[in-house]
Amino acid sequence: MCGIVGYTGPKQASRILVEGLKRLEYRGYDSAGIAVREDDEAGGSQKPIVLIKKQGKIAELRKAVPKDMAGHAGIGHTRWATHGAVNDINAHPHLDASGKVAIVHNGIIENYMSLKEMLEKKGVVFISETDSEVIAHLVAYLYRGDLEAAVKAALGQLKGTYGIAVMHADEPGRIVGARNGSPLVVGIGDGEMLLASDVTAMLAHTKRVVYLNDGEVVSITPADFRISDLSDQAIDPKIDLVTWELGAIEKEGFSCYMEKEIFEQPESIERALSGRMDMEYGTVKFGGLNLSKKELLAIQRVRVIAAGTSWHAGLVGCHLFESIARLPAVSELASELRYRNPVVEPETLYFAVSQSGETADTLYAMREIQRRGGSVLGICNVVGSTIARESDGGVYVHSGPEIAVASTKAFTSQLAAFYLVTLAMARMHDMSHHEGVRFLENLKAVPELVRKTLGLRDHIQKIAKKYAHAKDFLFLGRGILYPIAMEGALKLKEISYIHAEGYAAGEIKHGPIALISPDTPSIFLVPNDHLREKTITSMKEIKARGGPVVAIAEEGDELVASIADDYIPVPKCDARFQPFTMVIPVQLFAYFCALELGRDVDQPRNLAKSVTVE
Ligand code: AGP
Ligand code: GLU
Repeated sequence: MCGIVGYTGPKQASRILVEGLKRLEYRGYDSAGIAVREDDEAGGSQKPIVLIKKQGKIAELRKAVPKDMAGHAGIGHTRWATHGAVNDINAHPHLDASGKVAIVHNGIIENYMSLKEMLEKKGVVFISETDSEVIAHLVAYLYRGDLEAAVKAALGQLKGTYGIAVMHADEPGRIVGARNGSPLVVGIGDGEMLLASDVTAMLAHTKRVVYLNDGEVVSITPADFRISDLSDQAIDPKIDLVTWELGAIEKEGFSCYMEKEIFEQPESIERALSGRMDMEYGTVKFGGLNLSKKELLAIQRVRVIAAGTSWHAGLVGCHLFESIARLPAVSELASELRYRNPVVEPETLYFAVSQSGETADTLYAMREIQRRGGSVLGICNVVGSTIARESDGGVYVHSGPEIAVASTKAFTSQLAAFYLVTLAMARMHDMSHHEGVRFLENLKAVPELVRKTLGLRDHIQKIAKKYAHAKDFLFLGRGILYPIAMEGALKLKEISYIHAEGYAAGEIKHGPIALISPDTPSIFLVPNDHLREKTITSMKEIKARGGPVVAIAEEGDELVASIADDYIPVPKCDARFQPFTMVIPVQLFAYFCALELGRDVDQPRNLAKSVTVE
């Protein structure tokens, strides 16, 4: 679920491992540890593997690691516990009984109980409560002088999901990694090699990487690496060059990553649009859809599969597909679709939307649709991620690395991608050349609109301070702004731990209005189209019942300003593009509430950035 780092080369391994784990912190974790094989003394005896693990933050681990810790090869781990309490013993790495085999594991070993019983019968004593420890004992039990062979033999007996890294004291400088369902990337350095669950952990050392596929095993030494499958067939590696810069994963003067990522949105949206708008013909150019014009024209309906914030982007996307491209469209929760025995119809285009490209629910739903003959396009941020690689084509959103657990800039870039795809489809159906050009002009203006909206920061901070101690919030919107209301509620829940509901404003009279009291503020997203008056009516209903109202509405809306207790005036734009101007205030509102309450904004409790387990 969380993070793995491995290093072998001439440098001090412990330093690189701890620094790599620090880079992976954003993924969410509850404990961390490293295992380093110290070098043999000249002519001396073999050194054992040294283990240091700590419950809590990397800072705790860093304190426990001696500054001069020797050794040039090691593995590190951040754990997000699934089996066994959060404590030092259950933290990874785990050793076998002889102390010669060290392993780190992300994922879940489903058949660990039966393997554990088998090994216990042979006298093996288990120390932790984890499912992962069984891997160390199994590899040691199967070891006949070749670590790679022993790991493959062990994997043949394991059921479940894993990204693993394994070392053996008798094979200094060698680390064996493998993946099945949990990402693992090989970093090719100059006289050094790395392994990690994502490229952010190795960006300071190399940009040349190989993304492992499920079922692949890699063996690294400082000078070399070899990839093969479980039956030992060698696999030709495809070496990719990471385009992210190191600066992109630094805070660069901001107090936290979430703040940085919110304020980066004018540029990240620009990147999502860049090179794709064909202003002359009022349409869109995509590199990787892998669909001919004919195939696109045959599409009769759209379905989006995603989770969380990406699902909200999908809901906006579906609104656009239906209202602008005139295609029926539904955005589905991936975790629901997969187990519903879904009907996969011909002439349907599926989109799997995922910032990380590793979300298990979305990935498994995508595979189920593909198994039934459906075509799935990915809308992903992380290049080389599993969903990006396994989809039938797609659009990268290029928002750059998103480190904060709460997604912000990836969301607006996903929106940008949906606006582009909608335009491509609309231009094949009803939309004229002239309307296409107008649509693109609006889209081109979005980064500037977002920049202006970000200028509301101080005003929003004041309002957040006023309301941050409320226990419950309602976020209310209609039409294309309904998903933005849901996104606002999710952001607030995630980082401030305040309970919030995102509701369709027209629905409140059907139940939620019972929640209204002077202690329950409502945040209204007021559109500037035919739904404005209806939304204002709902605002009045709330006011009449003593509920405080914060209204986000177009600047100069005197009526809204006179009804609401607090008014956030966003720049004017075409109603179809208001999701961009409305989402910025709800992101900032959540951020400032969390600050006011002293929360850990980047790493909210219980959450992980990339949810690679079901
Ligand atoms: C967003 O703030 C959340 N952390 C979460 O809902 C997230 O959007 C969801 O887990 C999906 O992640 P993905 O986009 O990487 O697939
Ligand atoms: N299932 C393992 C454990 O609970 C690994 C969890 C993880 O992926 O971090 O220790």
